Amino acid sequence: MDYQTRYAAYHAAIEAYLAGLFTQDKPYGKLFESMRYSILAGGKRIRPVLTLEFARLGGIDWHLALPYACALELVHNYSLIHDDLPCMDDDDLRRGKPTNHKVFGETMAVLAGDALQPEAFRLIAQAPELSAQSRIEAVEVLAKAAGADGMVGGQVLDTVCNVQDEENLTLLHRLKTGAMIAGAVELGCVAAEMDAQKRAQAVEYAAQLGLAFQIRDDMLDVVGDEEVFGKPIGSDREEGKVTFVDLRGLDGCARLVDECTARAKAAIADWPEHEFLFELADQMVGRTV
Ligand code: IPE
Ligand code: IPE
Ligand code: MG
Ligand code: MG
Ligand code: MG
Repeated sequence: MDYQTRYAAYHAAIEAYLAGLFTQDKPYGKLFESMRYSILAGGKRIRPVLTLEFARLGGIDWHLALPYACALELVHNYSLIHDDLPCMDDDDLRRGKPTNHKVFGETMAVLAGDALQPEAFRLIAQAPELSAQSRIEAVEVLAKAAGADGMVGGQVLDTVCNVQDEENLTLLHRLKTGAMIAGAVELGCVAAEMDAQKRAQAVEYAAQLGLAFQIRDDMLDVVGDEEVFGKPIGSDREEGKVTFVDLRGLDGCARLVDECTARAKAAIADWPEHEFLFELADQMVGRTV
């Protein structure tokens, strides 16, 4: 199966799974509306796609890993809703649409993010066909990826620590973006109960991919086309952030993205079926969205 066909199959399954969530009619239905507004707004879904691909490579029917994949995507969406708030990046546009707080107000945006987090852990706990051992491990993986030593730690470095040098900026990227991408990959491995050596290679692939992904994001914040990127251009500068573009320039960033991508591919090069993961990494190098 070629890359596009496989990506489309994963994508369709993720969309269908997410579309089935938070549909009940409740007195506080506005909350569900706000959550669904963000989770169904047309994200690329690269994280849950990675979960499903690693589950497949681990030898299970990838459909079984959908609750894990979508759990992480819920946490990702919460992180974006909060990331866009006035107290964070103060952005009005996400995926080509007004940000959550612009539509539902700040209070509801905070609460929608709050609700998405525990709902994610509920999906893992209730994953119908995965073992109790796997589900416990998945809870730990997602908690670490999203928590204080993961995405939130990175967000703290990004928003309140005024990071200026490359070493700390690399740590910031590893945490705020790399941790969730690595978490997505690990969830696929955990679903398939993959052995520790393969899991370590998978996580190294993800860590390098995550770095490349965030450096590319910082480049697009400068040279992107708002219509295509779906986010405001120049947001980082407006917020006074130092990024890799400031430290290395755009050409230097492009070289860094290539280096990280090569390292990502090297980590899983001896896996018999690495084509999809190679192509995904290559696609991220030149992404405009
Ligand atoms: C946005 O992630 C946040 C970053 C880590 C740069 P994505 O670019 O994966 O966002 P969506 O989900 O596809 O909109
Ligand atoms: C990623 O960083 C943030 C998250 C961990 C949510 P950015 O702030 O650069 O992401 P975008 O550019 O708003 O998507
Ligand atoms: Mg941010
Ligand atoms: Mg932002
Ligand atoms: Mg950005």
